[in-house]
Amino acid sequence: MKDLSVDKVGMIYELPKGGSVHALHDVSFDLEAGRLLTLLGPSGCGKTTLLNILAGFLAPTSGSVTLGGDQIDGPGQERGMVFQQGALFEWQSVAQNVAFGPRMNRKKKSETKVLVEELLNTVGLQGFGDKAIYELSGGMQQRVALARCLANDPEVMLMDEPLGALDALTREKMQGLVLKLWQETGKSIVLVTHSVEEALYLGDKLFVMAPRPGRIERIYELPFAEVGLHVDPRELKASPEFIEKREELLSLIWEMEEQIMGHEGAMS
Ligand SMILES: Nc1ncnc2c1ncn2[C@@H]1O[C@H](COP(=O)(O)OP(=O)(O)OP(=O)(O)O)[C@@H](O)[C@H]1O
Ligand SMILES: [Mg+2]
Repeated sequence: MKDLSVDKVGMIYELPKGGSVHALHDVSFDLEAGRLLTLLGPSGCGKTTLLNILAGFLAPTSGSVTLGGDQIDGPGQERGMVFQQGALFEWQSVAQNVAFGPRMNRKKKSETKVLVEELLNTVGLQGFGDKAIYELSGGMQQRVALARCLANDPEVMLMDEPLGALDALTREKMQGLVLKLWQETGKSIVLVTHSVEEALYLGDKLFVMAPRPGRIERIYELPFAEVGLHVDPRELKASPEFIEKREELLSLIWEMEEQIMGHEGAMS
């Protein structure tokens, strides 16, 4: 189990036609192994940029990130990514998709088969191994994406709006699945979401990010993810404690959006 440490990370994108975008400024935090961190904030505040830096897809322009004390300087199996949609191999079966990582690692066929069965069970897709990806609903495809990520046994699962493309009911069910995976695997998760309710429900730690430049504006330690493992999600989301936090966050995000609009108005 490895802790993640982000130290004064900054990201400036140089634009091809000149100029630059200050996407992240001085982002620092430590995430102990096994935490579920949600990132919430208005569009353009650097959530995806931060996730890509944690994944090692992007090198920050300043600062550094370590996992278990080792510097992150490229993609690696100990950091798995789940995207919003469309990152599966459409032409392969469900089982082949999940088996991708282990196959690349030259794991024994018989072992891989057992692992794939196990993971399909875990994500509620038992019996779907032979189906083609295009035959599945959006929610089922995201289940495959989660299983494929888990097949590499990463230390940290990075998720960029993994439930963002799903209808409300499916989304709610999948939130339960994320909590279940978190509990059963004990892995660290960093999950980006636009939904205040989702950020509150899933995050046992939550960062509200702000734009221009992208930064961490506020940090919350929350009880709901832990509680959500044992009680009905509808009940939890209707509880006074949850509603109070939800309203607080909504106001905060609203204020930010207003400032952005004002800023954009001033620029035009
Ligand atoms: N490759 C790039 N080149 C130049 N600018 C970029 C690049 N990627 C992102 N940006 C800019 O950096 C800022 C942060 O972008 P990022 O995609 O990280 O935001 P986000 O919080 O994920 O937004 P969203 O909620 O819309 O997904 C934005 O202003 C964006 O336009
Ligand atoms: Mg994004």
